[in-house]
Amino acid sequence: MRKQIAAANWKMNLSLAQAETLLNEIVASAHTLGADQEAVFAVPAIYIPLALAKLANKPNVYVAAQNCHQKESGAYTGEVSASMLQSIGVKHIIVGHSERREYFAESDALLAEKVNAILAIGSTPIFCCGEPLSIREADTQNAFVEAQLKNSLFHLSADAIVKVVIAYEPIWAIGTGKTASSAQAQEIHAYIRSCFTAKYGEAVANQISILYGGSVKASNAKEIFSQPDVDGGLVGGASLVATEFTAIINALS
Ligand code: 13P
Repeated sequence: MRKQIAAANWKMNLSLAQAETLLNEIVASAHTLGADQEAVFAVPAIYIPLALAKLANKPNVYVAAQNCHQKESGAYTGEVSASMLQSIGVKHIIVGHSERREYFAESDALLAEKVNAILAIGSTPIFCCGEPLSIREADTQNAFVEAQLKNSLFHLSADAIVKVVIAYEPIWAIGTGKTASSAQAQEIHAYIRSCFTAKYGEAVANQISILYGGSVKASNAKEIFSQPDVDGGLVGGASLVATEFTAIINALS
């Protein structure tokens, strides 16, 4: 059975004191995770050791990074590699968030290299895809997202692709309060899964977790997560409030 995942993306938010308070609240919260469910916290890199310490011994709870460099080591000032992250206990790394694609000019080809680097050391890429508003308005989102998947992931073997988590995040729904309807989410998640079916076969496609991201909140999580091809969420704003994110974890079906 594929995993259901509630993933928090704190982005570039919170002071150390605020991060500590939020983690303490999360540790004290009454969330429940089944055997096939995970909660993942992608905190700013500088707070990773703190989050690892606070969340240690919590079953099925993981700390993630929001990005990594594609090379293992070397003269890349300011960068952090997937193997460095793994060496401190981080095995989940977000790749290709739309904010990195837009503000840091990350291309599909670069993201393919990052995915390769993460998989090469046995860690898990959380690969983001999703269309801007203009593409949604032109109703060409399926082809747009399919190209993102093809260009960055379809060189992988079946054994490798099942280790990738997909996060579909329509850019028009990120931080806007505008959520895709559960029907819109289901429609494109099913399309994404059909792309994996066409390339790798149904058995492989059915093992891949596809998360929805874009204004997920406690109030809409249950409805969105109840869709058959939605396997959880990648959550920005609402993950900064312990009660909200706890409710989102508990909304995993
Ligand atoms: P919001 O939940 O704030 O819309 O952000 C979504 C997101 O970008 C998560 O990666």
